[in-house]
Amino acid sequence: MNEDYDISKESGRVQKVEPSLIRTVLNRVDELRKSGHEIVALSAGEPDFNTPSDIKEATINAIRQNYTHYCSNRGYEKLRKKIAEKTWGETGVLYDYKSEILVTSSGAEAINNTILSVIEEGDEAIIFSPAFVNYENMVKISGGVPVIIHLKRENRFGIDIREVEEHITERTKMLVINNPNNPTGAVYDRFILERLCELSVRHNFIIVSDEMYSRLVYDDAGFQSIASFPGMKERSVIINGFSKTYAMTGWRLGYITAGEKRINAILKIHQYSTTCSPTFIQIGVAEGMDTELTKKEISAMMDTFEERRRQLMKGLDKISGLSYVIPKGAFYIMADVSETGLSGMEFAKRLLEEKHVAVIPGVGLGRMCSDYIRISFAASTEHINKALERMNSFIRELLKAD
Ligand SMILES: Cc1ncc(COP(=O)(O)O)c(C=O)c1O
Repeated sequence: MNEDYDISKESGRVQKVEPSLIRTVLNRVDELRKSGHEIVALSAGEPDFNTPSDIKEATINAIRQNYTHYCSNRGYEKLRKKIAEKTWGETGVLYDYKSEILVTSSGAEAINNTILSVIEEGDEAIIFSPAFVNYENMVKISGGVPVIIHLKRENRFGIDIREVEEHITERTKMLVINNPNNPTGAVYDRFILERLCELSVRHNFIIVSDEMYSRLVYDDAGFQSIASFPGMKERSVIINGFSKTYAMTGWRLGYITAGEKRINAILKIHQYSTTCSPTFIQIGVAEGMDTELTKKEISAMMDTFEERRRQLMKGLDKISGLSYVIPKGAFYIMADVSETGLSGMEFAKRLLEEKHVAVIPGVGLGRMCSDYIRISFAASTEHINKALERMNSFIRELLKAD
């Protein structure tokens, strides 16, 4: 027996990661609300819409019919067929529902299991920063080394291929992209994606493409899946899900599309983590995801996001001391607050405590983003207007105090 062993000690794997700053902000919002404050939250990455009615009804029916038992580890067959059809329609890539699609309990699980299935001790994964926090942390948990490339505002948070090449080594096993991007709103064009595909072939690494926001694109931006480039279906793993595009964050349903061998590897981890995603949810989604009513509801939601994006940009344009890169996808704006004299962290903290508006400090998404805050436009028109008014008065008071 090892008497020195501290039974409450975290494993080395856990010690490598920090709690997410986004959660810290959301917890503070909860505290303030509980103590009676009216908080305008432009912090969360979730649509404020209701889940499509047909999905809700079909799920309730599935429970009533006692579909409350385990189902196939890969996911309910009809749902996999529907995902294959949807992916074909949206990207032109044909995945076999029998072997090339895995249903997961959220996009987050899809990311975690994918990274765990690829990365070994000492392997390198190229990650662009700022980024959704899970990529870097899961690479660390897997024993790998996140190789961070900092995206630059001067380049509209775009990817510089030469810089990518400079970061590739013998140990590069994976490159992660998020297209459309949280938090920058970038949508990568054909030219950049082609170059990344060439690098994947030349240096023999896999591309993990998180396409959670694939249907949320604006203006002239055209979304293209990395898997749609020649030979890339086998060299990529695509992460997707229902949280953002079907307003289903609390349902925890995601999926992965990839070549058969990779899916089988990820399946082993999925099997030992969640076994399968809840059966009645999978049935409800399979039955309700493509009805005429659902299509109408989703399309109205997309139109509303587009209106809110314009509303938020118009409002921000009128506030001196803030600047931003126009987002072409997803539902966030990264705003530079450096002209106010505050860091993004101080700005976000004071805005929350003094004006009761919640946004995310940029450093929570990327070390080099200390001048930024992330503002989400997945909030009602009323809340966006209120937040803009309060932000405006906060900055006016700040600049006057100078
Ligand atoms: C880029 C990106 N990927 C994945 C996820 C995870 O989505 P979920 O776990 O809700 O399916 C999120 C959520 O914020 C995200 O922004």
